[in-house]
Amino acid sequence: MTENYSGEYLSVKIRENWHYIGVNDRETRLFENMWPLENGVSYNSYLYTGEKTALLDTVKINKTSNFVEKLDSALGGRDLDYLVIHHMEPDHSGSITSVLDLYPNCKLVGNKKTKEFLENFYELAEYGFDYENNFIEVAEGEKLDLGDTELTFYLTPMVHWPESMVSYEESTKTLFSQDAFGAFGALSGAIFDDEINWEFYLDDTVRYYTNIIGKFSAQVRGALNKLSGLDIEMICPVHGPVWRENPGRIVKLYNQLAEQETQEGVAIVYGSMYGNTEKMAETIARQLAVRGVKNVKIYDVSKTHLSYLVSDIWRYEGLILGSCTYNNSIFPLMNNLVETLRNQKMKNHTIGVFGSYSWGGGALKALKQFAEDSGYDKIEATAEAKGTPSEKDYADCIEIGNQMADKIIEKRATQLTKMLGM
Ligand code: FEO
Repeated sequence: MTENYSGEYLSVKIRENWHYIGVNDRETRLFENMWPLENGVSYNSYLYTGEKTALLDTVKINKTSNFVEKLDSALGGRDLDYLVIHHMEPDHSGSITSVLDLYPNCKLVGNKKTKEFLENFYELAEYGFDYENNFIEVAEGEKLDLGDTELTFYLTPMVHWPESMVSYEESTKTLFSQDAFGAFGALSGAIFDDEINWEFYLDDTVRYYTNIIGKFSAQVRGALNKLSGLDIEMICPVHGPVWRENPGRIVKLYNQLAEQETQEGVAIVYGSMYGNTEKMAETIARQLAVRGVKNVKIYDVSKTHLSYLVSDIWRYEGLILGSCTYNNSIFPLMNNLVETLRNQKMKNHTIGVFGSYSWGGGALKALKQFAEDSGYDKIEATAEAKGTPSEKDYADCIEIGNQMADKIIEKRATQLTKMLGM
């Protein structure tokens, strides 16, 4: 089939001797078996065919056959000299053994941790892989000679795994950034940033960052700082678009996300069995609107997937959590959110909490504890209904709205003063 094919499906030229041979996955429903992929995801891979041939990362195993077809086509009958492994998570390493089967002379390139993970995941030694002669171990700043060009490696641990590293090709000023600068969303024909409508990818990029990489924002800041000295004209991540027209755009977004710069607005998330806690959430939201807070989003924790909640909670400065009491404790789905937030270690938030008592209480106590532990700026008012909210309970909800609005208005005034240099 490939002999007469003349379109760009199999391989897209990104620079002289460089090819995009990534694949789209629209069949996997959950990334890492947790995060919904409504718009799919791409596993990007790049091939160099100059004096030497080098493959940069592979793809998840469910897409191996599409991938090796592309690899074979782009190699045009040549052997593969190197496979560079920037990241060992199986969405990128899943086809390594197939590549080795097809190109047994290929040398693997990775760092010390890569080697350890290769063995843990694929037991290559057991299948006869000769690490001594066929694994090239690289360290920070070391280079791989490709004959007419070279790649320089920079270690970026925890962006996204301990062995993660990026490479930079100086002659074309291209950064191969693995998970960094990536996004959810399959590529629908368009590969490059100048071919896409960025609006289609923005929310999925934020959701990808906040859920997959966000916990490691300190390490992301370290990596961004380390790479800031490079003159970068093109960024080739392993998910989402290739950035050739405006790489500064994705760098800026990642900087903002890693710095945890929040926007004006409030995310209200509630867990409610029979609608009483929901009524309290609506009351708080109405008061925020009355006080002029425009970006308010209410979510039912039972309906909206955690990943969308995390994304908007990351985005907005105000967070209000409400939970009904379920068997003397917090509503289990709200507990899942709270534990996720503890794990994500987000910053720069103001938090308020409320709940319903049912027959013995427990939810509000747990939320108050979370608010205390979070280190966020707290609003003092809380509300707790025993069943259907009473007039006093509604008044307490209005007070939560007022106090959150006060904080937001105060912050807005401080920012304005700063901007005007007063
Ligand atoms: Fe896309 Fe951390 O793997």
